Amino acid sequence: MPRTYIKDLANHIGQEVTIKGWVDIRRDQGKLIFFDFRDMTGKVQGVILPNAKAAHEVGSKLRPEWVVEVKGKINQRPEKNAQKDKQNGTIELEILDIVILNEAETPPFDISSEGKEINEEVRLKYRYVDLRRERMQKNIRNRSKAIQVIREFYTGENFTEVETPYMTKSTPEGSRDYIIPSRLYQGKFYALPQSPQQYKQLLMSAGFERYFQIARCFRDEDTRGDRQPEFTQIDLEMSFVVQEDVMAINERMIIELVKKLYPEKEIQQVPFPRLSYKEAMEKYGNDKPDLRKDKENPNLLAFCWVIDFPFFEKVEEDAKAGVKEGWTFTHNPFSAPKPEFIPDLMEGKNIGGIVAAQYDMVLNGYEIGGGGIRNHDPKALIKVFETMGYATERIENNFGHMLKALASGTPPHGGLAFGFDRLMMLLQNEPNIREIIAFAKTGEGRDPMMDAPAEVEQKQLRELGIKFGK
Ligand code: AMO
Repeated sequence: MPRTYIKDLANHIGQEVTIKGWVDIRRDQGKLIFFDFRDMTGKVQGVILPNAKAAHEVGSKLRPEWVVEVKGKINQRPEKNAQKDKQNGTIELEILDIVILNEAETPPFDISSEGKEINEEVRLKYRYVDLRRERMQKNIRNRSKAIQVIREFYTGENFTEVETPYMTKSTPEGSRDYIIPSRLYQGKFYALPQSPQQYKQLLMSAGFERYFQIARCFRDEDTRGDRQPEFTQIDLEMSFVVQEDVMAINERMIIELVKKLYPEKEIQQVPFPRLSYKEAMEKYGNDKPDLRKDKENPNLLAFCWVIDFPFFEKVEEDAKAGVKEGWTFTHNPFSAPKPEFIPDLMEGKNIGGIVAAQYDMVLNGYEIGGGGIRNHDPKALIKVFETMGYATERIENNFGHMLKALASGTPPHGGLAFGFDRLMMLLQNEPNIREIIAFAKTGEGRDPMMDAPAEVEQKQLRELGIKFGK
């Protein structure tokens, strides 16, 4: 008999069906054995009546998380037993036959609860069991639905989805890189990208005009509730645009996403309010203010834009770390100054006062995205690096390819990247991003399930020419 999904069982009253799934709960009352069965579409209660001898024999062996194929008849529950607000609460599966597809060891923890009371290290070690809980199923399925809406949105706006490399080159870009040793070029390393920033700009040089990617990014920084060593960006870039264009299309995307997938949520203010970096710091003491009027309301989304960031910030001298006093970028070296500040940059004046064409999107006190209009003039980009004290050789070594590309006929361009995990964390009302990542790392950056990071074979190290000092 073909398989019927549990969500469709109510359409089969009076008929025999076959379901496949897991034993969720078992309640043995001697003559009667009750079960809840679960598949990816939901749950249903089943019962083995005393006269179903063969089913009774198998059923008395079943334990939670065993995988079964169950044949049965769908009966309407008597009015007094009906639970109208529960999925399949008005029907019951009268079990006629059970085939055990696989047994299961006693689960390491309860999966019927929200799971937040369980030690997280243990949850991550047995993540494949942890993910079976209803809350995690919803988080991961809604994440997938959100990706679909987002992909449809940008595709509908003529964006081309392009995959960019994970094996690339280390460049000073903000945080620490993860690096990969090369076997063929011993002593040389690839780096995992902190973001596709350079590639997406090169795609603008390449004439794609509108690019997006669901991109994995890698940053070796201290993990926090809203940070993981690898995380996902909704990354995009556009040609022939100004700041307002990029902000407008992405504001539209976010509103559409909320309306389509979270109709119960209320966006506090549309268009999203805007604050300058200076205003945010003066009024709220940080650059990602939580503007919610009512912080108790889990369905309130207070988006805002923070704009007009200073381009450079002062670096204090740190003799121990070998750092000289000077300037560094606040966000991204590839950003353009706002047009009125280009003369200052070119003449090396008012460095601390130069404002960048950069914008962050903030939601309920979290930075969920950031972007900027880029510097498409190679001379101006060189000026940025010179302002930060980079020698000509270092500029050439690190950024020669970018400068050459900009000089090859690159249109004015700009873009943005959303931190997709953070966005989903907030939309799903979760306290940290590990709850919406299928296979997350611990707060200390480990994967207790795979036991990574781990040592490798001596042979692998020899091939790479790597030796560790004792
Ligand atoms: P930025 O570094 O601001 O910009 O990153 C964009 C967004 O990514 C999220 N984010 C993170 N999420 C989880 N874990 C992390 N470790 C982490 N780090 C950042 C944040 C952030 O707003 N290339 C530029 C974007 C651009 O200019 O277009 C970039 O990467 O939500």
